[in-house]
Amino acid sequence: MKKVITYGTYDMLHYGHIRLLERAKALGDYLIVGVTADDYDKSRGKINVQHSLSERIEAVRATGIADEVIVEEYEGQKIDDIQKYDIDIFTVGSDWVGVFDYLNEYCKVIYLDRTQGVSSTELREKKSFLTLGVVGNSLYLNKVVHEVSYVNGIKITGICTDNLDIFSDEVKNIEFATDSLEELAEKCSALFVHSNPANHYHDIKKLLELKKHILCEAPLCLNAEQWDELHKLAVKNRCVLMDGLRTAYSTAFHRLLLLAKAKKIGKIYSIDVTCTSLKRNSEDFRSSISDWGPTAMLPVFQILGVDYKQKIITSHYSDKDKKIDTFTKINFIYPDAVASIKVGNGVKSEGDLVISGTEGYIYVPAPWWKTDYFEIRYENLSDNKRYFYQLDGEGIRAEFAVFSKTISNGSDYIYIDDVVSREICQIVGEVSAGKDVVMI
Ligand code: CTP
Repeated sequence: MKKVITYGTYDMLHYGHIRLLERAKALGDYLIVGVTADDYDKSRGKINVQHSLSERIEAVRATGIADEVIVEEYEGQKIDDIQKYDIDIFTVGSDWVGVFDYLNEYCKVIYLDRTQGVSSTELREKKSFLTLGVVGNSLYLNKVVHEVSYVNGIKITGICTDNLDIFSDEVKNIEFATDSLEELAEKCSALFVHSNPANHYHDIKKLLELKKHILCEAPLCLNAEQWDELHKLAVKNRCVLMDGLRTAYSTAFHRLLLLAKAKKIGKIYSIDVTCTSLKRNSEDFRSSISDWGPTAMLPVFQILGVDYKQKIITSHYSDKDKKIDTFTKINFIYPDAVASIKVGNGVKSEGDLVISGTEGYIYVPAPWWKTDYFEIRYENLSDNKRYFYQLDGEGIRAEFAVFSKTISNGSDYIYIDDVVSREICQIVGEVSAGKDVVMI
């Protein structure tokens, strides 16, 4: 019996896939199809696959062409599979010509002509075509504009800023620039807002009234009442309103939360988070609590919740109006745990995250907010576990892929609980107003 194997993502299964599978089957008597796992796809840069692994497997099965469907989970697996299943022919489409020649050592390699005029990328772009406007004067927009170009289905159509000169050529080349939010809103269906947090509430409200989807750098606003109002308006106008907090959307951070909740380190008694920088956003200087606070509070609230008994805030303000804190430390005291966040914009420290439990601790090295790696450490060193997940474009790509998917599919997964997003706004607002702050 001649055995054939082929691999692919098979996202949004299309005619090109079916033709490939039919021809692959015709090369032998038994066809095995390897469908790529989500993590493996992410590690090779395919971040916005629309269908889940089980849906993609089901779609391939439903064609009735494959005799067996397997999952491709790691780099190098093809060699293992060829040996394990005693494969005679490896085949893929001609877009891969040359790439798999090394497999000739193990079996015959055949490249089949790719069907012209159809691809998952194209279908994804059609399905989730988003025209995006970006708003703000922060140089962070340079990174965003660059990274978004890697996400299928999003086109940046305009920018709203009053200081275009500071940006990279890539940003300056965006086809439409204005200093009017309303004018920009006319050119797009969704917006990314990275303006001064004090303006977020008004900007978001205006944009939601115009029925635009919004991804806004956290905090979304500066108190819980404003948060409630904005979310009500978003629901009423069927708009997505999402926190821009790239750490939340990274696979590593998401998995870390699941492991913590699955009690891998036992009962959690303490969380210590530090986020600092010396010259962050100097062109648009923000206080340390608004710049770093949302990121620092994220693991605390996602793990311990927001029902703390007491918080003790200590800040240092650099300016005479006491508006901009260059350093803030907050201790949250829960009935059975304690958490401490340390944020600085002008004070530097080790930016790591430590979650302490009764059986061990989770350690994320600096800069923990760009999490691609963490460890679970136990008393017995040989029990320690290391976890690594690919993070492309500092997490910005994943963040925008989730934004685009949430708009096209309705929210299919919650990355930041509403109560967490709301509490973050309330605390950033309180510290910014100096409420109950011990000054140093
Ligand atoms: N394929 C093909 N003709 C097409 C599209 C895909 O023959 N028009 C083949 C690929 O060469 C590969 C298999 O189908 O052998 C699975 O491809 P996959 O990467 O899942 O599909 P694409 O549509 O190429 O996906 P993407 O746009 O995400 O790269």
